[in-house]
Amino acid sequence: MANKLFRKKSIQDLIDTSTKGNTLKKELGTFDLTMLGIGAIIGTGIFVLTGAGALTAGPALTLSFIIAGLACFFAALSYAEFASTVPVSGSVYTFTYTTLGEFIAFIIGWDLVLEYLLAVSAVSVGWSGYFQSLLSGFGINIPTILTAAPGALEGTKTFFNLPAFIIVMLITFLLSIGIKQSKRINNIMVVVKVTVVLIFIAVAVTYVKPENWQPFTPFGFEGVFSAAALVFFAFIGFDAIASAAEETKNPKRDLPRGILLSLLICTILYVIVTSIMTGVVPFQQFAGNIDHPISLVLQYSGQNWVAGIIDVGAILGMTTVMLVMLYGQTRVMFAMSRDGLMPAFFSNIHEKYRTPYKATWFFGFVAALFGALIPLDELAKLVNIGTLSAFVLISVAVIVLRVKQPDLPRAFRCPAVPLVPGLAILFCGFLIFQLGQETFIRFVIWLLIGIVIYFTYSQKNSKLNKK
Ligand code: ALA
Repeated sequence: MANKLFRKKSIQDLIDTSTKGNTLKKELGTFDLTMLGIGAIIGTGIFVLTGAGALTAGPALTLSFIIAGLACFFAALSYAEFASTVPVSGSVYTFTYTTLGEFIAFIIGWDLVLEYLLAVSAVSVGWSGYFQSLLSGFGINIPTILTAAPGALEGTKTFFNLPAFIIVMLITFLLSIGIKQSKRINNIMVVVKVTVVLIFIAVAVTYVKPENWQPFTPFGFEGVFSAAALVFFAFIGFDAIASAAEETKNPKRDLPRGILLSLLICTILYVIVTSIMTGVVPFQQFAGNIDHPISLVLQYSGQNWVAGIIDVGAILGMTTVMLVMLYGQTRVMFAMSRDGLMPAFFSNIHEKYRTPYKATWFFGFVAALFGALIPLDELAKLVNIGTLSAFVLISVAVIVLRVKQPDLPRAFRCPAVPLVPGLAILFCGFLIFQLGQETFIRFVIWLLIGIVIYFTYSQKNSKLNKK
């Protein structure tokens, strides 16, 4: 029994699987991966959640971003080491299969479903808010009942978030017809969204009044930490790069570079944007306007025209996030299915497009439905807890692999092991505790469902049984 739980794939086996049989096209380089990362990172976190963050932390929101960014940075170094050592599809799931064994790997894969799938849903809700605001600028209004999930707007009867549903189905279509088309669209949208953030910085910086930064921590460190746990969402995405390993031309070199570069670029942008936001607008003003905090800053400065441009950029920005997240989701499932831990349905590849199209349509539909029916804050917190747990596990895995296989060739080595992975475990563990009991209980229920699936299906069907 214990043997089965802890049985491991050999790293050589993994490399063999990824080069034979059901293989994906190899066509991504450092630049593409960095774009893929930025595409996944900048989105609802900076465009929507900063409003709630400013109300929780005050001007010290910048500090909350730095804390969440540090947690990600430490975890990213572990990701980069694994990604460069085990360059096959499936991200952190695959990495743990070689180190901590099948059961933990399954749990991680299950965790990633929570992260990627619900992130698509959460971002679709943020997207829908900006989209509706843009439409209303042209005098077009969707019937209220179709604007949000049931119970999302206090005192208003809503039933289904139709724009959120439609955008996820469109993205599903793009992904199902292949990485090439999706990559090109992703790259264009990333350029647009970074440009929009730079325009915001250039215009808004002239309106900063340093007195708005006083008092810096109106809600003390408690506020700073709980905002950090929320805005952690803004950094999620760099790990999706690792799940593209099998489609990367030179994964050993390009994966670590892509992960670290995209994270660094986004952190710098976030720190500048949040300092400017809280410097232009007294933080109390974000109450009641938290759906569009970034454009609010420009409206406050009388720059309505630029605010409109920001709305368009935010819509495009959030579109790329959904694209990369859904991509990551289908690739993790692809890997789990190829290993026999999930039904073969999920690793079926389309003959012409060479994509796991059945999995793409299946998860696209589920994500669209969740986005249409569940409110944003509930989705975001679940995404955060799923991701933070995965970060803790990957950091443990780096330490384990260093002890057990010290001589394994690693193209990229995480510095100062076990200190750096230890810091990742500490920071991420701390943020998990800031998310509240309710989120924790939901997460435990999710894990229990996964455990039942593992013991009733996955363990019996694992490809490792045949060895
Ligand atoms: N980091 C992504 C976002 O902010 C998930 O939307």
